[in-house]
Amino acid sequence: PAPTPGFPLPTTHTQQAYDPAADFTSKWTRADAKQIMAQSNPNVAPGQNSMSPNVTMPEIPKDFPAMNDDVWVWDLWSLTDENANQISYKGWDVIFALVADRHAGYGFDQRHWNARIGYFFRKTNADPAKDKWNYGGHLFLDNTSIGNTEWSGSTRLMQGNKINVFYTATTFYDVAERNAGGGGIAPDAVIAKALGNIHANQNGVTFDGFQHTKLLEPDGKLYQNKAQNPGFAFRDPYTFADPAHPGKTFMVFEGNTGGTRGSYKCKQEDLGYQPGDPNAETVAQVNSTGAWYQTANVGLAVADNKDLTKWSFLPPILSANCVNDQTERPQIYIQNENGKNKYYLFTISHQFTYADGMRGPDGVYGFVGNGVRSDYQPVNNSGLALGSPTDLNMPANAPEGPDPRQNGRQFQAYSHYVQPGGLVQSFIDNVDGVRGGSLSPTVKMNFKAGVTQVDRSFGQNGLGPFGYLPTNLRVGGEGHY
Ligand code: FRU
Repeated sequence: PAPTPGFPLPTTHTQQAYDPAADFTSKWTRADAKQIMAQSNPNVAPGQNSMSPNVTMPEIPKDFPAMNDDVWVWDLWSLTDENANQISYKGWDVIFALVADRHAGYGFDQRHWNARIGYFFRKTNADPAKDKWNYGGHLFLDNTSIGNTEWSGSTRLMQGNKINVFYTATTFYDVAERNAGGGGIAPDAVIAKALGNIHANQNGVTFDGFQHTKLLEPDGKLYQNKAQNPGFAFRDPYTFADPAHPGKTFMVFEGNTGGTRGSYKCKQEDLGYQPGDPNAETVAQVNSTGAWYQTANVGLAVADNKDLTKWSFLPPILSANCVNDQTERPQIYIQNENGKNKYYLFTISHQFTYADGMRGPDGVYGFVGNGVRSDYQPVNNSGLALGSPTDLNMPANAPEGPDPRQNGRQFQAYSHYVQPGGLVQSFIDNVDGVRGGSLSPTVKMNFKAGVTQVDRSFGQNGLGPFGYLPTNLRVGGEGHY
């Protein structure tokens, strides 16, 4: 691409694949992420959207419907197999989401401290514009999961009617913290799974028989633990098979670089500038800011047994040291392009988690390479795949306290989940002051050769039905209970 005057060039990434166990971690560099601003319009009227329409989610209407009146709904995912196919089970589509009671006396921003995994189902041939998702309730019985709150994960149909729910078991120790949301004693977080049964009949879908197993705790070396940083991130497991390594099951998850918070110092490879770039920062310049506090990574683990109850850590596949502190809910989506498998890594991030000197929107970010572990090329050269409408010329905000002069849609959606065919589901957070807690209209993001583009011919000006998660693989047959 032609360089933008005043901005550095992005890092060169080869997309070369490495062995999944190799000691190579791809870097989302400052040079890469600076392309977000290089591609942003510096001259929009304040509070408009400064990003290209190709990477901007269309505006969600303020009068969006609530998908459920009793629970807030946020992070969501579908019933899948190990190849990211979305499964229709005996004629039913099934989705999972974090839910919290709307009537328990706490506010929407306290949902994380009260999160449970809930599930919804509807007939596979339902009209997504008219037929609502039926709420099935909590997936697990009260007080049976490993932690005292259930955070995000993924759910896979195994043989027969067995399902594996991979989730984050987060444990809060401080009741005051749970109720007030913030401060207090830092929580524990482990990655866990529950093996259980799915049942379907003419009335819908139920689950039972869950057996919970703790799978992974952060080791403090590759992945930061609570002793090293009370605000550590270790969560959001997503498992998949890789056709290049038949018989193995891998997991990606959200982590932080191991080591005591504040001990990391930015390196040349985190900056990633081209030699002699006149717009490059020096390592010393970057280290004179607090940019080394931001140390997100995308972790990788491999299953050691067929039951998926034993796992080993591998080095992270991506780090965002000195760029961003959170790369959440990672997913791997494998797409054939010109006869070759391309591995897309998608992960969500926030504006408020960027490092000093960096700026980007809340949204989903993407990286493409030739293998699960590769020298990932950020999509659109920047990493930004799809963001909420934002004026990036204004300082970063957080959803609970947005600047009224900023675009009112800057936090309209979060926790984007990329489905087959480029359908992107997310939840509504804050649409011009109206808080959400419900599924967003699905949008379609076409992506190929590392370039993404919102499909504005999809749905109405790019907005599809609310909560549109169609299935593409049938198991058990239509209505075969
Ligand atoms: C993303 C997220 C996840 C976490 C969940 C907790 O929205 O931060 O990383 O599992 O929300 O509510």
